[in-house]
Amino acid sequence: MPQKTYIDSLSKSDGQEVRIEGWLYNARSSGKIRFLLVRDGTGIVQCVASVADVGEATFALIDTLTQETSLRVRGKVRKDDRAPGGYELQLRTLEIVGYSMDYPITPKDHSDAFLLDHRHLWLRSRRPHAILRVRHEATIAIRDYFNSNGFTLIDAPIFTPSACEGTTTLFETNYFRTKAYLSQSGQLYNEAAASAFGKVYCFGPTFRAEKSKTRRHLTEFWQIEPEVAFLEFDGLLDLVEDFTCYVVSRTLDRNREELKILERDTTALENVQKPFPRIAYSAAIDLLQQKGFAVTFGSDFGAPEETAIAEHFDKPVFVHRYPKEIKAFYMKTDPEDDRLVLGTDLLAPEGYGEIIGASQREDDLEKLIDSIKRHNLPIQDFEWYLDIRRYGAVPMSGFGLGLERFVSWICKLKHLREAIPFPRMMYRLSP
Ligand code: 4AD
Ligand code: MG
Repeated sequence: MPQKTYIDSLSKSDGQEVRIEGWLYNARSSGKIRFLLVRDGTGIVQCVASVADVGEATFALIDTLTQETSLRVRGKVRKDDRAPGGYELQLRTLEIVGYSMDYPITPKDHSDAFLLDHRHLWLRSRRPHAILRVRHEATIAIRDYFNSNGFTLIDAPIFTPSACEGTTTLFETNYFRTKAYLSQSGQLYNEAAASAFGKVYCFGPTFRAEKSKTRRHLTEFWQIEPEVAFLEFDGLLDLVEDFTCYVVSRTLDRNREELKILERDTTALENVQKPFPRIAYSAAIDLLQQKGFAVTFGSDFGAPEETAIAEHFDKPVFVHRYPKEIKAFYMKTDPEDDRLVLGTDLLAPEGYGEIIGASQREDDLEKLIDSIKRHNLPIQDFEWYLDIRRYGAVPMSGFGLGLERFVSWICKLKHLREAIPFPRMMYRLSP
C-alpha cells in the first residue's frame, strides 16, 4: 500500500503513487474516461480512471458508485493546471469502505430549511466547509493576538447565579435546589481575573434567550472577551481597533481559497486599517435624523439604524458614549456628562452592524451599587462582584466580540446560522 496522503498536500507527491481516503463528492464520465471527485476534508481531488489503468472490474464498479460513498483510492499524482487544486490522481485501484444510498443533499438547489434539517450532512458541502474553515482560522488568529500580547486565558463559568446583560434574555436551568442561568457573558468573572492577572481573556459559548428571529441573533454563540486592568476608555478603543485589524488581515491572508469559494469580494475587508472613525452617540442621532429616522436621544439602535450609520463610512465605525438607560449596569458613567456611559459598539460595514460591544467599567463602588439598583438587579447576587471595587478598584476596560458576527461579516453571509457548526435559534434545537 502506498503512503496515505491528504489532498491539501498532494503537491509534495507529484509523480508518486499515493493512497487517499475520503468520500465521493461527484462523478462524471466522458467517453471511455471516468472522473471522480473525491473529498477527504482537506480538499477535493479529481481522480481520472481508464480501463487500461484500473481493469474491467474496477471500471464497472466505478459506474455504480453513489454520492458520499466512502472510498480508499490509490493512484499516481499528476500536476494538471486544469484540475481543481492543480493536481489530479491517475487512478489505479479503488476500494469501497462504506456505502451511501440516496444521499439527501444533491447538487441541485435545496431550501434553507431542508439544509438546516440536514446540517449534520450539509457540513460536507463546499460552502459550509469553507465558512467553517474561516471560523477556524479566525479563532486561531484571535487566540494568537491575545496570547502574544501578554493576556492570560481565564475561562469563565457557564452556570452562573445572575445576569450580566439584562434579565430578559436569561436561560434558566434547575441547579439542584436552586436556579442557575446560562452565562450571557464571562465579563464579570474576567474583571475579577484581571485584578489577579492584569490582562485576561475568555473565549467560550455564551447564551441569550433571544425571542427575535433576526439574521443576527443566535441563542448560543461564541464570545471572545478580553479585560484589562488600568485601561481607560481611549486605550480601549485603540485595543479594539488594533485587535480587529490584526484578525481581519490574518483571516484574509490565511483564507484566500475559502473566500474565493464563497465568492467574497474582499475589497472592503482590505480597507480595514487603522484608524477607525469614531462618532459620538449624539452625533449618530443627528446623522440618523438627517437620514429620516425617527430617533431621539435615548433611542436604541436596531439593525436598520446601525446599517445607516455604518453606510456613512468605508471602515468599521465606533459609536461611543451611549445614554445610560440603553446600556448594561456595569458601564462607567462619563465624567463629562452623567447621562452617558463610556461604552462603545463597533459597527461593521456592509450592513453587518455591531460586532463588538465594549466599555470602561464603573469602578466607583457607590455608583455601581446605584446602577445595580436602578437596573432592578438583586444586589445580593453581585456582592462578590462588588468586592472587586472594595479591594483595590482600578480603571478597567474590556470588550466582547461575537465570533459568528465576525465570521458572517468576513464571509458576507446572509444569516449568522451559517457561521456556527450547529446553530441554535428560537425554533431550532436540532440536529
Ligand atoms: O454587546 P454584548 O451584549 O456585550 C457583552 O456581553 C459584554 N459583557 C462584553 C464585554 O464587554 N466583555 O455582546 C457582545 C457581542 C456583540 O457585539 C455581538 O457581536 C455578540 O456578542 N452577540 C451576539 N451574537 C450572536 N447572537 C446573539 N444573540 C448575540 N448577542 C450578542
Ligand atoms: Mg451590545
